Amino acid sequence: MSQVITDKNGVKRYLITLTVNGDAHTVLVKGNAMLVNVLREELNLTGTKKGCELGDCGSCTVLLDGRTVKSCTVLAVQADGSEVKTVEGLATDGKLHALQEGFWEEHGLQCGFCTPGMLMAACGLLASNPHPDEHAIRRGLEGNLCRCTGYHNIVKAVQNAAKRLSAGESVGTSPARRGAA
Ligand code: FES
Ligand code: FES
Repeated sequence: MSQVITDKNGVKRYLITLTVNGDAHTVLVKGNAMLVNVLREELNLTGTKKGCELGDCGSCTVLLDGRTVKSCTVLAVQADGSEVKTVEGLATDGKLHALQEGFWEEHGLQCGFCTPGMLMAACGLLASNPHPDEHAIRRGLEGNLCRCTGYHNIVKAVQNAAKRLSAGESVGTSPARRGAA
């Protein structure tokens, strides 16, 4: 339950706690602050992108308590007490996640703007369906738009990652690259 703090002008703010990529944070937010803005502006996790801010493009997708959400549609106060995973939390110990390896190997990105959201949507998809066929991948990513229209390679990238994960590879062998997906 968030603590409400009212300043001398009568403006209410809410003290919320979030565990983001395993790190606990306490943040003072306005009641109308969206999760995407708190991640980007308060926690400096700018891997999560803002596109439409209307829930249409999916570039802001993160995992909230394991479920994929479009963080531009979630009030930060709604996420109080939750676990959030962003694209910055995919790589482990300096090694890219299998999904990042898959996108890298299959050239699953062009400008890269949609990529963090695609990766997180794919992460949620593979958690619920480790062996998706092409149709399931396209269904799983249908809420994420790529303005470069690179869907074909994105599907191949997710298939590549699914194979890696089913072979027991959660992280790849490539070092995490600055700015890589
Ligand atoms: S920025 Fe959230 S869905 Fe487009
Ligand atoms: S790679 Fe450019 S928007 Fe998808």
